[in-house]
Amino acid sequence: MDDIKILAIESSCDETAASVVKNGRTILSNVISSQIDIHTLYGGVVPEIASRKHIERINRVIRSALAEADTSLDDLDAIAVTYGPGLVGALLVGVAEAKAIAYAKKLPLIGVHHIEGHVAANFIEHPDLEPPFLCLIVSGGHTHLVVVKDYGEFDILGRTRDDAAGEAFDKVARAIGLGYPGGPKIDKAAKEGNSSAIDFPRGKVGDSEYDFTFSGLKSAVLNYLNHAEMTGEPVNTADVAASFQQSVVDVLVEHTMHAAKELHMKKVAIAGGVAANSALRTAMEKACQKRKITFYRPSPIFCTDNAAMIGCAGYYEFLKGTRHGWDLNAVPNLKLGERG
Ligand code: KG4
Ligand code: ZN
Repeated sequence: MDDIKILAIESSCDETAASVVKNGRTILSNVISSQIDIHTLYGGVVPEIASRKHIERINRVIRSALAEADTSLDDLDAIAVTYGPGLVGALLVGVAEAKAIAYAKKLPLIGVHHIEGHVAANFIEHPDLEPPFLCLIVSGGHTHLVVVKDYGEFDILGRTRDDAAGEAFDKVARAIGLGYPGGPKIDKAAKEGNSSAIDFPRGKVGDSEYDFTFSGLKSAVLNYLNHAEMTGEPVNTADVAASFQQSVVDVLVEHTMHAAKELHMKKVAIAGGVAANSALRTAMEKACQKRKITFYRPSPIFCTDNAAMIGCAGYYEFLKGTRHGWDLNAVPNLKLGERG
């Protein structure tokens, strides 16, 4: 079979990204234009600003991705684009761009689920990895424990009942004065702290062994800070960061290992922005080693939002025959496993 080259576009949140991917797993280019500096000024992502910045940057980002891959629009076999979930105005920029290119060049258009993309990031650097495997998906908007049955096919075992793991990182970072984006800042601060300094609760959902809850932990951190302020006790930010992070990591690893045992899964992967967390990576690796489970994780650059993962997921959708029409629209609350 001839090589399949896909141009992938990702604009669901605050990164404008484009990538050229060959045969699903060879990344010819991976261009990411981050808006973090701009949104940091506001303490979080401002949707309207995100959309405008995507519009300003998307053509340049695509041109760079094509140039870096030494590929022209005429060499492509398909266009893949994230169409949900995400910020509607941000998604629309990528979807409109993808449609325009696909229409002009008479190429197949493939809408990709953002979370399916995060999972697919694992295929990029692990040529041996094939479904089925267990995957913990932890991003700014999602926390899911799933069995990846086949490419793009998931059985959802558990999900968060309240905040996503990344959201908890971001909120706690703001509360302890580390600012946006919270995850990487807590990760860094925690390295200087003692993770058993404060005994924060491990979130448990009574009626489900696989669901997650992080709101109690977040409240416990806020209570701890309020109490310290009222009594005039000094707060050791690094200790709070390390203890909070340990609580999140413990629950994520415990649920994942429990599922691996119950379902006899010998392959475990992690995905999403929080999968870049150094404590989670180390703890999951150790837990897997102990149980003789093979552990897969994308490099940090493929954990946070990027278009290479969309090109990878798009390739497997392409092989399955998924094609979208010119009516493809942004679906901000697209559910995992749902087809738009
Ligand atoms: O997957 P992602 O880039 O975007 C979404 O699809 O949501 O995830 C972003 C989330 C943010 O909440 C960010 O704080 C978190 O991932 N994150 C991290 C780390 N790097 C990014 N959380 C913990 N440790 C990190 N090193
Ligand atoms: Zn994401």
